[in-house]
Amino acid sequence: MFVDHLSLLDFRTYHALDLPLAPGLTVFVGPNGVGKTNIVEAVDWAATLGSHRVSGNGPLIATGSERAVIRTRVDRAGQRTVLEYELNAARANRVRINRAAPVRAREALGTLHTVLFSPEDLTLVKGDPSHRRRFLDDLATAMRPVLAAARSDYERALKQRNALLKSTRGRRGFDESDRATLAVWNDQLARAGAAVMGARLQLLEALEPEVDRAYQQLTDGPKHVSLGYESSSVAPGADQRALAHFSVADLYDLMMQAFERMERQERERGLTLVGPHRDDLLIRLGETPAKGYASHGETWSTALALRLGSWYVHLADDPGRGSAPVLILDDVFAELDARRRRRLAELVGQAEQVLVTAAVDEDLPSALLEHTHTVVDVEPGSVAVRGDASSSSETVRDTQDDEGGNGEDNRDRHDDGDSSGPGPGGAQSANGGAEGG
Ligand SMILES: Nc1ncnc2c1ncn2[C@@H]1O[C@H](COP(=O)(O)OP(=O)(O)OP(=O)(O)O)[C@@H](O)[C@H]1O
Ligand SMILES: [Mg+2]
Repeated sequence: MFVDHLSLLDFRTYHALDLPLAPGLTVFVGPNGVGKTNIVEAVDWAATLGSHRVSGNGPLIATGSERAVIRTRVDRAGQRTVLEYELNAARANRVRINRAAPVRAREALGTLHTVLFSPEDLTLVKGDPSHRRRFLDDLATAMRPVLAAARSDYERALKQRNALLKSTRGRRGFDESDRATLAVWNDQLARAGAAVMGARLQLLEALEPEVDRAYQQLTDGPKHVSLGYESSSVAPGADQRALAHFSVADLYDLMMQAFERMERQERERGLTLVGPHRDDLLIRLGETPAKGYASHGETWSTALALRLGSWYVHLADDPGRGSAPVLILDDVFAELDARRRRRLAELVGQAEQVLVTAAVDEDLPSALLEHTHTVVDVEPGSVAVRGDASSSSETVRDTQDDEGGNGEDNRDRHDDGDSSGPGPGGAQSANGGAEGG
């Protein structure tokens, strides 16, 4: 698959960007802070509904604006889908697919797949467990979008359960109705939690051999990577590895037992202490945990191996035509030695589309540049395709208007005209009609 068009409105440094993209390799080059990562972050957001750098919309919306719009047109084996996201500062995001009426955000998951490598990946190894949980959940959801429902059910039930525990915190006489309400949240949390844990465990089984294989390719060293699930629901002293053989029903029972075991502590602290939101992915390198033990170079290799492993898992999960994720390499080459650079550059041949960022051309390995590629020079708020004499940010924008001969584009624009109210369509017209609407 590939993104054949990206438009941004008030997204970080871009007030209005319209960028046609092609399959193959595109390299974004420009000095630090110019807005290269902002572009690939937007593409990744369209796939995962999240940013690899921040949580929440705030930093993604250009300062002074109330909302940002990311629009991508995705081509998958010739079939095109327009994904449009309005990220709002003060209210829920709005998602539209092919210009139809807004849908729930999770409906858009699964259309576009990305695998993004970035310096932030070091936090997968060194950072707190939330990074690793999100890594697992995002990968599992990309392949099985229905998991998004279980994830949001879990979040909702967790909030409710925490609210109950907090409001009755430390109270001695937990009355009948409190007890009945707690039982309801226990059941709902365990149901959704078992689905989330089940998906993570299933993913780990597929992921572990791929991550280890990737690590061997990157280092050729003597160490192996192993991945283990550390569940907060497992009783102290019990064997975590037994989880690998648990069914979703077993996981439900495990969580219900954990609630029973922890009730006193949870009521004292007014907080849910067990469940997938407190679990971790344990990454071991040889005999020791990677976190706290691995060297800087080993940490990098482990982080890269997690992403490479994700790439292989995606390909194995869906080997069909047009299903390879968009590969995004954000600022990774400068940090890597020759072997790792070569390994990553080899991946480029497997993807239908690769987006790379680098501060200077010299950061890019020659093995990468052997592939036919387009260089896009990035300046604050605009971009220009190198070698294209007519190209400036304005003409890159105009290019899309020229595509008017393309029926797909025309349809987009007409649909845009239909949308009323202060939606992204209206905003675009206000923006000088960049979309021709
Ligand atoms: N919401 C926002 N509104 C306005 N500007 C923003 C916003 N978010 C980030 N920026 C600006 O965007 C710039 C960073 O852009 P980006 O991370 O894409 O840079 P980069 O080209 O990838 O740089 P580097 O080579 O250092 O990685 C910063 O100057 C930052 O101030
Ligand atoms: Mg960057």
